Amino acid sequence: MKTEVWQIDPEQPDAKLLAKAGKILRRGGLVAMPTETVYGLAANALDAQAAERIYAAKGRTPTNPLIVHVLDLTAAIPLTREIPEPAHRLAAKFWPGPLTLVLQKSDAVPSIVTAGGATIALRVPSHPVARGLLQTAGVPLAAPSANRSNALSPTRADHVLRGLDGRIDLVLDAGPAHGGIESTVLDVTCSPPRLLRPGLIVPADLEAIVGPIDRSIRSAEGPLRSPGMLKKHYAPRTPLEVSAESEERVRQLVATGQRVGWLRLGNQSSPMHVSVRALPSNAEGYAAGLFAALHELDEQPLDRIVVEAPPEGDAWLGIHDRLSRACHE
Ligand code: TXA
Ligand code: MG
Repeated sequence: MKTEVWQIDPEQPDAKLLAKAGKILRRGGLVAMPTETVYGLAANALDAQAAERIYAAKGRTPTNPLIVHVLDLTAAIPLTREIPEPAHRLAAKFWPGPLTLVLQKSDAVPSIVTAGGATIALRVPSHPVARGLLQTAGVPLAAPSANRSNALSPTRADHVLRGLDGRIDLVLDAGPAHGGIESTVLDVTCSPPRLLRPGLIVPADLEAIVGPIDRSIRSAEGPLRSPGMLKKHYAPRTPLEVSAESEERVRQLVATGQRVGWLRLGNQSSPMHVSVRALPSNAEGYAAGLFAALHELDEQPLDRIVVEAPPEGDAWLGIHDRLSRACHE
């Protein structure tokens, strides 16, 4: 299959292009779209065959359910059995935006979308292109991140093509996705709500609305409750490690003749001949640039990527989570 790439304005997307892309989705096709977090691979969530195509294109295991995107809370209602009161409050505060809520699924949703499970993960994106596409498609859109299974998430159209060129119908290229890491996933079928994946909306933001949440995802040893939270995930091809003493570690590796990429925090320079990328030392800026920096380093012929350990703290939870999954050992 030939994958088309259409440039589209991120703020004021062309209505004709959106209408054409919506038609592809209604016919059961696959369209990669920008969201405010990362690029997603969209298909009609009410069409079991279209959902099946997502699993095939990504090489995703059939046990890992898909996030479904809708325009607003009203559009979420028919896909769920009930929306508990805390979910209403969270939706009022954070939708549209990077929060995914896990709710009881209704029979309207084909079981392949939720990998046979009784719950559905729902999100209302804020990106104008994703919203425009939801409007023209006129159906809810299942859209996991637009990468091959277990590979790095895409924050740009060329990252999408790196994994999915020839496997999907279309990429809508609206430039970089600004959030940079995927949405926060919160299970609201239980009380207190349970954090399944840390993301751009941090626990304190959620707790300000619904009181204490179960944050046990934080403990590395704790049970992994989200099926997609498999250990090896978001990984570059190049072996990656996080180091608190990264300068020393890079020096060691270079001394043994290894080609090293070094991902630093707020500091471009390197005393050594290695490939350096620097990310801002605030969590928001770091998240926005993380996957793009990893993609860039991964495209170079390197033996190893060393990441300078970022700070601890709630704002950095999502970043530590993605880095620990990107480690090979
Ligand atoms: O920001 C995002 O969430 C992006 C953009 C494209 O919306 N999407 C995304 O999808 O990251 P994906 O499939 O890469 O990650 C979704 C996560 C997976 O870990 C999946 O296992 C989990 O959400 N998930 C999906 N449905 C679930 C459910 N019913 N219960 C628990 N976890 C679920
Ligand atoms: Mg993903």
